[in-house]
Amino acid sequence: MSPTHSHPATLESLGPVTAEESRLLEKLDLERLPRHIAVIMDGNGRWAQKRHFPRVAGHRAGTQSARTTIETCARLHVEALTLYAFSVENWRRPKTEVEFLMALLREYIRKEMPLLQKNNIRMRFLGRADELPEAVQRDTREATEALSRNTGMVLNVALNYGGRAEIVDALNNILRARARSNGHNHRVAQGESSSPAAFPNNSSSRAESAERGISLSSPDSENGHDPHPVFHPITEDELARHLYTGDLPDPDLLIRTSGEMRVSNFLLWQIAYAEIFVTETLWPDFNRARLFEALLDYQRRERRYGAIAPPSRAASR
Ligand code: FPP
Repeated sequence: MSPTHSHPATLESLGPVTAEESRLLEKLDLERLPRHIAVIMDGNGRWAQKRHFPRVAGHRAGTQSARTTIETCARLHVEALTLYAFSVENWRRPKTEVEFLMALLREYIRKEMPLLQKNNIRMRFLGRADELPEAVQRDTREATEALSRNTGMVLNVALNYGGRAEIVDALNNILRARARSNGHNHRVAQGESSSPAAFPNNSSSRAESAERGISLSSPDSENGHDPHPVFHPITEDELARHLYTGDLPDPDLLIRTSGEMRVSNFLLWQIAYAEIFVTETLWPDFNRARLFEALLDYQRRERRYGAIAPPSRAASR
């Protein structure tokens, strides 16, 4: 992904801050912020229940926390923010709650468009779009298009999203592309059409074809199937490129509100090395100060990616 900002964020861009926020910000290093933050926004129902409100009131209150988090992250020049809005499992909720959530999302997109534009935010939706109601599909497509020329933070909204489904979709897309490509090369081999690069004979082109999963041995059986197909393993890079998050860096920080210690089928591949921050705060109570606490906690961690600590630090243990 191309860098979105050539200069670090400044505190002035956050506007007026409270005394609590100011105390936290003093300790925050703006040059060591996560590039990508992912959030499991949990606890809306409990927030509402505590107040004897219907559950959906919690979801509505949660949109304010989403707004604050989105705007603050954009102003801090975070490259990507991914919010878990609706999982593939959430269809099991009562029909009225599902319908409310879909309507709330549509309302949110419409109402927040000026804020998203003002903050130069791009917006994408991660998940199986074709299973969403038509109106939601249309609104999400239009929002992505309307914000596509912006150059700032990428806001991903995970909608009808499942981490396992995402990996399966990526693998199926790779297989589909390979099948298409193999079909093409088979036709070329049969003399149907021919371009010099399409069926190359030199070793570097052979390597390129192998990367695309194309067999260069000629099909020679009656029905055109290669009796000795070449096995081209899928690589980590290839799989990662086909995930919904495609060109984005993996999340450095995963925040989960309301105290549950689970990842709930969220970004399973991408969070391999993410720092996980779980807070007891319920999502509708998650404000800027709570976000700064999560960022400070992240900055206290030592990220090793499977390696050992640098010698100076290891020696002092
Ligand atoms: C989990 O709380 C929350 C959700 C399933 C929906 C999250 C949606 C929003 C906050 C609406 C706005 C979203 C965007 C992106 C604008 P829960 O209902 O599981 O809470 P509980 O565990 O206390 O029952």
